[in-house]
Amino acid sequence: MGTSVLPMRVGVLTGGGDCPGLNAVIRAVVRRGVQDYEFEFVGFRDGWRGPLEGDTVPLDVQSVRGILPRGGTILGSSRTNPLRPDAVDGGISGVERIKDNLSGLGVDALVVIGGEDTLGVATRLHEEGISVVGVPKTIDNDLGATDYTFGFDTAVNIAMEAIDRLHTTAESHHRALIVEVMGRSAGWIALHAGLAGGANVILIPEKPFSIEKVCAYVQHRFQTRYAPIVVVAEGAHPIEEDSEIGSQKLDAFGHIRLGGVGQMLAEEIEKRTGKEARCTVLGHTQRGGTPTAFDRVLATRFGVHAICAVRDGAFGTMVALRGTDIVRVPLADATRELKLVPQERYAEAEVFFG
Ligand code: F6P
Repeated sequence: MGTSVLPMRVGVLTGGGDCPGLNAVIRAVVRRGVQDYEFEFVGFRDGWRGPLEGDTVPLDVQSVRGILPRGGTILGSSRTNPLRPDAVDGGISGVERIKDNLSGLGVDALVVIGGEDTLGVATRLHEEGISVVGVPKTIDNDLGATDYTFGFDTAVNIAMEAIDRLHTTAESHHRALIVEVMGRSAGWIALHAGLAGGANVILIPEKPFSIEKVCAYVQHRFQTRYAPIVVVAEGAHPIEEDSEIGSQKLDAFGHIRLGGVGQMLAEEIEKRTGKEARCTVLGHTQRGGTPTAFDRVLATRFGVHAICAVRDGAFGTMVALRGTDIVRVPLADATRELKLVPQERYAEAEVFFG
């Protein structure tokens, strides 16, 4: 029991796309905060919407029991952006509304669990004087300053299992099967799941692809009497692209809702090779369900270290994985630049194409 720690009331929120392991972080933050520092907690519902509207949920040791293996987030999530003009209410800006609600609730500090957008807002709120510690999450694994985010390993395993299953049915029917996985700007899920699942082509957002070349790999694979599996990240696009793929709907952070590249590719492969090609979109199955052991451990360690950072008054920092250590880095470092797949890493996968 820490006796020299000042009692604090700490708010916790989860923002952006959910991912397996969020509940493990919440549990670890609360368990350590209550047991070791005698902190009190307030849960905010649905990402930044919670502090913006003062929408809270009780958070204590009892309420985090049993949630370690549960997917999703007990706090709910949203892509609410309090920095947008429509967050202004009665002439009061989103930032001021959050400050007012935090002081009204007696919340001294926030643990913010999020990706690029949620932590981008956290960085800005820290500059505005709010005490914030960040925890990095995203299945995309594209946050800078940390080697891995939790949620990624689970998503990769789900996609790998799907690829394993698709191999056998593709071979029975002599079809090309295209698997569209998530990955808006970075192809980490496609790269890891494709490598682990023995895909014959992997296409990522970082490297525009030639449909002709993909078709050549597909033909070659059929010649070896095996059926090709093509893994494509939803954010990948062809060199010869002449129209936008996916819908034009934007979220509160201005991102286009992706999806559709796999179907486009299946149609082109079928047209150009004369072989049947079908597409499977894994979509949100990659974000749902129970976290892997790796993600449970990483999320738990992040939670334990995040509340320790709050205790130390290390605000404006984010916990991050460096090698096997959990370290603190400036929040701004996490969101300054996305961590993309380097060319050398992609080249390792290219060895197995065709
Ligand atoms: O950022 C994580 C992510 O899963 C991306 O891979 C994907 O493009 C996006 O979220 C989808 O978000 P939503 O579920 O809000 O459409």
